[in-house]
Amino acid sequence: MEKYLVQGGLPLAGTVQVHGAKNSILPVLAASLLNQSGEEIRLKKVPALYDVRAMVSILTRLGARVRRDGEDLLLQTADVDCYHVPDTLMREMRSSIFLMGPLLGRLGRARLCYPGGCAIGIRPINLHLEGLQALGAVIEEKDGYIEARGRLRGGEIALAYPSVGATENLMLAAVTARGDTVIRNAACEPEIIDLQNFLNILGARISGAGSPEIKIKGGRRLHGGSYRVFPDRIVAGTFLLAAVITRGCITVEEVIPGHLAALIGLLEQAGADVELTENTVTVSADRLKAIPRVETKPYPGFPTDLQPQLMACLALARGTSKIIEHVFKERFHHVPELQKMGAKIDLSGHEAVIRGVADLNGAVVRATDLRAGAALVLAALAASGESKILGIRHIERGYDQLPEMLRGLGARISREKAAREEMLF
Ligand code: UD1
Repeated sequence: MEKYLVQGGLPLAGTVQVHGAKNSILPVLAASLLNQSGEEIRLKKVPALYDVRAMVSILTRLGARVRRDGEDLLLQTADVDCYHVPDTLMREMRSSIFLMGPLLGRLGRARLCYPGGCAIGIRPINLHLEGLQALGAVIEEKDGYIEARGRLRGGEIALAYPSVGATENLMLAAVTARGDTVIRNAACEPEIIDLQNFLNILGARISGAGSPEIKIKGGRRLHGGSYRVFPDRIVAGTFLLAAVITRGCITVEEVIPGHLAALIGLLEQAGADVELTENTVTVSADRLKAIPRVETKPYPGFPTDLQPQLMACLALARGTSKIIEHVFKERFHHVPELQKMGAKIDLSGHEAVIRGVADLNGAVVRATDLRAGAALVLAALAASGESKILGIRHIERGYDQLPEMLRGLGARISREKAAREEMLF
């Protein structure tokens, strides 16, 4: 059990490179199950994130062989023959629901325990299941397990909501199904384009990702290949917000600035200076102006995965801001922790009103989920005095080497062993 110890109040400055997108790597790893050719898959520059390790453990339990080669991961999936995702690993990572599509496509069967709720609220999977049923799967839900069977055939699916995970699951299921599939009202997130690009390198024929209509030619037999996912736009956004909250200047390199357009628009509205090149974004700021209304929305809207971090910044802005969370309506576990640091935030349903204060104070706080944890790190970097952040396992699900990278920008942050009484805190 470890914690981050942060001495706040220093402006951060410098350049960082972000790692590959966690939310691309996870479905891409799941997609590797569709390769029965005996050829290897090489995923380039895969960060050693907790969630990546959890997904690799699942694949290994299903029969894949996975090994590291420097920064790359090599996957051999010829011998995959198990269709039951182990319960403990499924609970570790609820998004592993998108293993259902490739397992069905490959083995005609998948069994996993119900993902249930998590710190950012209930995570229903009705859209995944209805979509798979539309492709011919027979699904039984019993005693907390979901069992799906059937030989899949292509079909037309109109999602009631552009769910990222459901879009990915259905793309994965449709690749080997008999006949062609069209997914309408699909999620448009960059991670969907990443999945399409990866699958097409392996021999799939998918088009339209990044738009609301995705077409998948079925009946494809996939082979090996080599792929590097997009840079992580949420990690990049977190570093830009670190510049803002500490009133410093940070350049994030090797990013796709277009993926950050919604955040950049808000930062400009709040008075930050933003400079873009083809693959870098530089942000510098004095004290931000409040933003009267921010709404999280599916891409290209402002991402829910940056909502907690932006809220930490707005807690120190001049004036009153409002954030409306539309995507995960209960995603506010960072609020009581930010309040301990002196933030003035009122919650009402899925809306937060943030009255900016001049200073935050260091405190002992706990990360309850990944992005809430990132928000606490940002607040601690700006606060006066020392903060202790517990529950950092959540943060390390999605940020590789975060303290090291922040230290490179001038932050005083270290990973320390948590004392026993702190673990109970
Ligand atoms: C993915 C991301 C997560 C991000 C989220 C929204 C991964 C591994 N995770 O999660 O970081 O916050 O997109 O951008 O890529 N919903 C239903 N029924 C369903 C599925 C979803 O009602 O069957 C609802 C959810 O409760 C939520 C909304 O749709 O309110 C968005 O969820 P979804 O887009 O599916 O998010 P995830 O794929 O779980």
